[in-house]
Amino acid sequence: MTIVVAIDGPAAAGKGTLARRVAADLNLAYLDTGLLYRATGFAVVSQGGDPSDENLALSAAQKLTPADLENEKLRYDEAAQAASKVAVIQAVRDELLDFQRRFAEQPPVGKKGAVLDGRDIGTVVCPDADVKLFVTASTEVRAQRRLKELQDRGLEAIYAQVLQDMKDRDARDSQRAAAPLRAADDAVILDTSDLDIEEVIAQAKSIITQKT
Ligand code: DC
Repeated sequence: MTIVVAIDGPAAAGKGTLARRVAADLNLAYLDTGLLYRATGFAVVSQGGDPSDENLALSAAQKLTPADLENEKLRYDEAAQAASKVAVIQAVRDELLDFQRRFAEQPPVGKKGAVLDGRDIGTVVCPDADVKLFVTASTEVRAQRRLKELQDRGLEAIYAQVLQDMKDRDARDSQRAAAPLRAADDAVILDTSDLDIEEVIAQAKSIITQKT
């Protein structure tokens, strides 16, 4: 029996760091599902296309290779915004679904299971996950974290702009018809606004240990 841990939440809530640490500490494989959408969106914009164009976005999703997920540029905001636009398209989501489910069901040899993070893991990709966490924080705290992350990478960024981008992406991710961002009914909500990352990791590991 393998363990599946689903971690969902809005941008910059801390779910990536949490998922990576939980995976390493509990010997689970880790999949950042946002990368699939980022790579799809980035492929469209880097060819000069509109990421909201269904044909272009679907064709990019169909052509994705593991090497595409390694591109450093996927970490930038241009890729994030494009990701959130291709993610609205149901055909793109359907195309990426199999890969995610297969990863959860058949993690690499030697791993005890898998951790997937994203927006719809607990609701759509792995509705039967053993543990579902919904990691969130206030929009202002998330914008501050993202600002610091950009500045630490030596990029120029203005708080007001980062906050606006965060609100735009939250709105698109939460209000779309296809698999909108929301906590599954059986998810445990972790609000990280006033917690440091070590506290969040400790809470998450204790929830996972209790449930598995
Ligand atoms: O987690 P992230 O910031 O890398 O995700 C980028 C975008 O991809 C996000 O704004 C919405 C979309 N996404 C999604 O719709 N479903 C997922 N499981 C993961 C990401």
